[in-house]
Amino acid sequence: MTLLYTNGQAPVEARIDDLLARMTLEEKVGQMIQLAAVDDEYESYIERYHLGSYLHSLGDDVTRLQALNRQKSRLNIPLIFGIDAIHGHCFEDGSTVFPVQLAMACTWNTELVRQMGEITANEARAGNLHWTFSPVLCMGRDPRWGRTSETFGEDTLLVTEMAAALTEGYQSAEFPLAACAKHYAAYGEADGGRDSADAHVSERRMREVFLPAFERQARSGCKTFMAGYQALNGVPCSANTWLMNTVLREEWHYQGVVVTDWNNCGQMLTLQNAASSMKEAVELCLQASNDIFMSTPDVFTYTLELVREGKVTEARIDESVRRILKLKFDLGLFEDTKSPDRNSVLLDSQRWQTALQASQQSLTLVKNNGALPFDREAKKILLVGDNADNLLNQLGDWSFIPGAAAYEDKTIHRAETITLKAALQEMCEKTGLELQYLGADICGPHCETTQHSAIEQALQHCEQIIFCAGDALNQNGEFHDRADLNLPGNQSAVFKLLQQSGKPMVSILLASKPHCIEAVMEHSDAVIVAFNPGAKGGLALAQLLFGEINPSGRLPISFPRHIGQLPVYYNQAPGWHAPLSPHYSGGAEYIDIQHSPLLAFGEGMSYSKIVYGEAQLSNSSLQDGESVELSLRISNESSRAAVELVQLYCSLRIPGVTSPQKRLLKYQRASIAPHSSADVSFTLVPKDFEILDINLQKTIYAGSLVLMLGKSSRDQELQPIDLMLA
Ligand code: GLC
Repeated sequence: MTLLYTNGQAPVEARIDDLLARMTLEEKVGQMIQLAAVDDEYESYIERYHLGSYLHSLGDDVTRLQALNRQKSRLNIPLIFGIDAIHGHCFEDGSTVFPVQLAMACTWNTELVRQMGEITANEARAGNLHWTFSPVLCMGRDPRWGRTSETFGEDTLLVTEMAAALTEGYQSAEFPLAACAKHYAAYGEADGGRDSADAHVSERRMREVFLPAFERQARSGCKTFMAGYQALNGVPCSANTWLMNTVLREEWHYQGVVVTDWNNCGQMLTLQNAASSMKEAVELCLQASNDIFMSTPDVFTYTLELVREGKVTEARIDESVRRILKLKFDLGLFEDTKSPDRNSVLLDSQRWQTALQASQQSLTLVKNNGALPFDREAKKILLVGDNADNLLNQLGDWSFIPGAAAYEDKTIHRAETITLKAALQEMCEKTGLELQYLGADICGPHCETTQHSAIEQALQHCEQIIFCAGDALNQNGEFHDRADLNLPGNQSAVFKLLQQSGKPMVSILLASKPHCIEAVMEHSDAVIVAFNPGAKGGLALAQLLFGEINPSGRLPISFPRHIGQLPVYYNQAPGWHAPLSPHYSGGAEYIDIQHSPLLAFGEGMSYSKIVYGEAQLSNSSLQDGESVELSLRISNESSRAAVELVQLYCSLRIPGVTSPQKRLLKYQRASIAPHSSADVSFTLVPKDFEILDINLQKTIYAGSLVLMLGKSSRDQELQPIDLMLA
């Protein structure tokens, strides 16, 4: 007789009911345990814990463990394997390595992000994996934080749109991959940018800034969530019933699986002093709706004890096991779903075209006095900086092996990665350009001394300098926060020598995050920001330098002039007393540093001259149930096709509440042919102006507001348009 739960044609709910009824308490609790396949006894976990899930298992190990599980699991409940495929399925050589999330956010191109998800899904499924711990919804609001490169930047709308596109790509792929919205929530808001430290965030800021992206995920079918390490307002996320029960399960009715981050439960005892015993930590986490516990094996024993003592009901365990079984049934794991053949997936060259497009569109030109693009005149180019030829630093975090960025790898991704130096060398061979390179022993994030003579000698023969600087792989990522955002190593000292030569110089920040590069901005003829730009990043940079592509990137994160300015994100509320001071200019300033960001959210330029026409509103007031059109014509006065990122911000006055001076409301990527124009329009409805009133109640804004349309968040680049909401 076929057991109902094994019948692939039966309704999933019936299969869950049937299977749950057959499971012992040990087998149920085992489904809630996820352990890493990294130590030397991990095979034994299947029997010891009736294990439901592994993480960090790759390749043949996955199929071997699944086969072993089929022998050991009495009810043959398949394992589910989680992996950090977060900018491509990077842990397997030959897979497509995209730019990191922060770089993908510079594209403002949700379709491209969706494609990254799709390609990653097919490649991870080719490795028999069904679940990625991605997208990251954390906000990049404090660049001291080691994991800034994993974010889509500082703005709620951009993070929401990008993350939704990535989840859509993963879960709608030909071979779907379960996505994981993480780290729920406000993990990046830790005090001082210190990874996993407490985050104290008001409910208003949680609901206005940090929760919207997660709510979008919860309501649009993201299959899993991951609870953050940190304590939110003093309560660790995995024990935070406001976050995990009230908001996620009761307000959003989310019924997907929540996995804790690595040993969240155990860290309440060992790191956060938030429990006096392991058993107490387990009980607290079971009161919150965690379903799977990552890397906390003690949960198995203590949960059994707690249920047997009546402190935790079996019904609570059943809640989680139902969600876990639903995930496994929905992914077809019981039916041994077909996975793509890895070789045929890797034979698809289109994926690298998509990756190159992503690298190209992730580059952001933030200064150009006309020095770029280079003409093809034979030139003696001096390329300076380790990051111009360092694969580890180019690809960045989560590109090599499971675990933190500090790990190095000496083997994978060499075949497909093109560094800037390699790309320029190839270009020189084709064009007669001469290239001289001063690398890691002369200038880089780990160089401590400056060899003046070698640099001065090289400077004598060159006509054009390219300075490529940034941080190293082990200077960012989890556990790797920085208190100083100046260029690390001897890079600033070398830059000063290069600058003193008076030779034309183009600078490239190839890094994981914003740095304080005021001198570089001031003394370079042009500056390009390249956040870990992926395997094809070096080629994309060379193409940009020589005008083969027209840059279109826009910054998703602000750059401080000085670390002391933090926080420097754009959407802050007014109220700073400085402008009232009779003692000076009247701007929002410190007495010792101008407070405007060095580089602003939304900033970036192309090689084209784009002229914005006068914005027109179809109606100066917006009634309930109606819409207004905001439109304008933008003209491309150049001979190059261009992509312009038109940004629409708004400023509201909510009675009794301070609001950001401006908030990104909508944006559009407009393609404009050479010497032509494009009409851009935004349709606005009252729902676009949903706010939280003084009592934190959702309502539609009423009254006058100011729309601001332009090419960045800088005031001088925005045209104000009044609108009345009736
Ligand atoms: C890490 C990270 C998390 C990742 C998990 C599994 O510590 O915080 O983002 O998905 O562990 O590698």
